[in-house]
Amino acid sequence: MQIDTEHLHHWMRAIRESEDPMRTMDAFWRGQILSKEWLIAEIKKLEEYFINCPTIDIHGGWVGTLSSLIFQSDIGVDSITSIDIDPTCKKTAEKMNQIEYEAGKFHAVTSDMCAYESTADIIINTSFEHITQDQYDQWLSNLPLKSLIILQSNNYNIPEHIRIANDLEEFKSQTKLKNILYAGELDLPLYKRFMVIGQK
Ligand SMILES: C[S@@+](CC[C@H](N)C(=O)[O-])C[C@H]1O[C@@H](n2cnc3c(N)ncnc32)[C@H](O)[C@@H]1O
Repeated sequence: MQIDTEHLHHWMRAIRESEDPMRTMDAFWRGQILSKEWLIAEIKKLEEYFINCPTIDIHGGWVGTLSSLIFQSDIGVDSITSIDIDPTCKKTAEKMNQIEYEAGKFHAVTSDMCAYESTADIIINTSFEHITQDQYDQWLSNLPLKSLIILQSNNYNIPEHIRIANDLEEFKSQTKLKNILYAGELDLPLYKRFMVIGQK
């Protein structure tokens, strides 16, 4: 997908002015970006969910990379809210999405995702491997029945991943979604990324 130079300028500024630029740059590893491009390519196929420009909540939204990629794609969205428990993410995510933030289309919130009441049409969580099954179960129980839910995890066994999935089948069962519209995996050099799209 294409990244335009104006957005690129805001990305660089967000990284430069963040509290820990090296850590912020972890959001731009090839595997991170490829996983988000994959997500965008798959949701674009679910055209019926995008006819009326949906609202999107991204839980564990980190520094707002996925939000920016969605804004720069040809998917029409009303607005995106990025929720993260780390208070340093809010300012960086706002800078990453400066154009849409100024237009009132992007919001960043500091909150535990399990305590945040989402009412968005589309709810994304690509930080699945950063929460326990109990946290996830509570998080899922708070979500509206009508929302399209998009989840990503992986089999990358590193200390900061507190609950990985060994394969796609295990991930599907961890998600507990009843109505699965898509399930797939992406082979990356160091790990496999899994994605499930569905509803409760
Ligand atoms: C390393 S990052 C994102 C990794 C993910 N694979 C991705 O592609 O976006 C994980 C993020 O989840 C956030 N996080 C962890 N637990 C959370 C919680 N309970 N509520 C909200 N955000 C949380 C962290 O603060 C961090 O910004």
